[in-house]
Amino acid sequence: MSTESLRVTIDKKTAALKAAMAAGKWWHSIDLGDGFVTPGVHTPEELAYNYSTFRLPENLSGKRMLDIGCWDGFYSFESERRGAEVMAVDCWTPENILKAKAARQSNLVFEEKSVYEITQDSVGTFDIVFFLGVLYHLRHPLLALEHVCEVTREFAIIESHVCDDFVNTDFAHLPVMEFYEFDELGGQHDNWWGPNIECLTKMIRAAGFAHTEFLRRDPTRVAIKAYRNWQDIPNEATPSLRLTRIINAVKYDEVFPRRGRHAMLAIGVKGLPHEAARLDVRVEIGGFGVVPAYAGPWGGTDDYSEFQLNAIIPPGVPAGKATVRVWHGDKISDTRAIELIDTPLIPAERVV
Ligand SMILES: C[S@@+](CC[C@H](N)C(=O)[O-])C[C@H]1O[C@@H](n2cnc3c(N)ncnc32)[C@H](O)[C@@H]1O
Repeated sequence: MSTESLRVTIDKKTAALKAAMAAGKWWHSIDLGDGFVTPGVHTPEELAYNYSTFRLPENLSGKRMLDIGCWDGFYSFESERRGAEVMAVDCWTPENILKAKAARQSNLVFEEKSVYEITQDSVGTFDIVFFLGVLYHLRHPLLALEHVCEVTREFAIIESHVCDDFVNTDFAHLPVMEFYEFDELGGQHDNWWGPNIECLTKMIRAAGFAHTEFLRRDPTRVAIKAYRNWQDIPNEATPSLRLTRIINAVKYDEVFPRRGRHAMLAIGVKGLPHEAARLDVRVEIGGFGVVPAYAGPWGGTDDYSEFQLNAIIPPGVPAGKATVRVWHGDKISDTRAIELIDTPLIPAERVV
């Protein structure tokens, strides 16, 4: 399909959805019991298919889950049905989710909160976080991803509109975002950004997630699983890979704020091969994985005998002792501990 006809299709689809919503329809088809399923704009089959692409276990008992931008709450209720303890938030209070909660006698907790208000202090932490269909509605998507990351312990499922089929294919390998000043996307004023998949993947890592897995690609949308750590960590330290020093990468001292502009470490390592690239070197700080923003000779020289790895303190690591280690292939370094200090959150009063 051509770029222009894709845009027209999105416009028509959005107009039909708006008309359906105006007529009092539900966004999600939700089983309220006794054979009554709400007449959602999204059919039960479509929603079940979407959920299946997240590849979650059928039994989610023991998992704490957060659904950001939940709307009517299908994804929350389905997670609760599978045994999870669920919190659902949205930047307004959809009456439908409260009706469905009552009808299903659900224990789900709903709170009206914007993603920018989601912090460990305000909601705690969650094994799994859903961030479905929200990113492109935000003026500050990277900031929002940092908030998502801060409260995620295992992984987040991030689903979004993407612009890959709109932009010139010469750019497909480059991280680019389309910006919608007015209602250019689907005639909606609250659509701001259309990242391409490359851009979204890189933003997810830049926000602090360790790595991503591709889950689903629809014509203009993508679903990505964003992990807080790696699964294949070697068990034992290898003496040939050794941490040499850890300093603050911004201030060159040994004061380590846990968040903010100075929350970046420079980690010295001996034993990495000359060709080690930043996406192959894995850093773990305070139990969370993070990709080094820089991996090369210490101090930018051409002496590769000591590598310097610059990495942000991943969002959500608490103040106090935090362990640091590094691995590459099947080699893992010794572990060092640093003391992270607390810093106040910068008030984001202008963020909407
Ligand atoms: C396209 S709907 C997606 C609903 C649901 N997550 C899904 O995938 O079907 C976007 C949702 O994001 C919510 N939203 C928009 N801006 C938000 C913000 N700043 N914080 C939290 N939710 C937001 C909207 O109110 C809406 O419920």
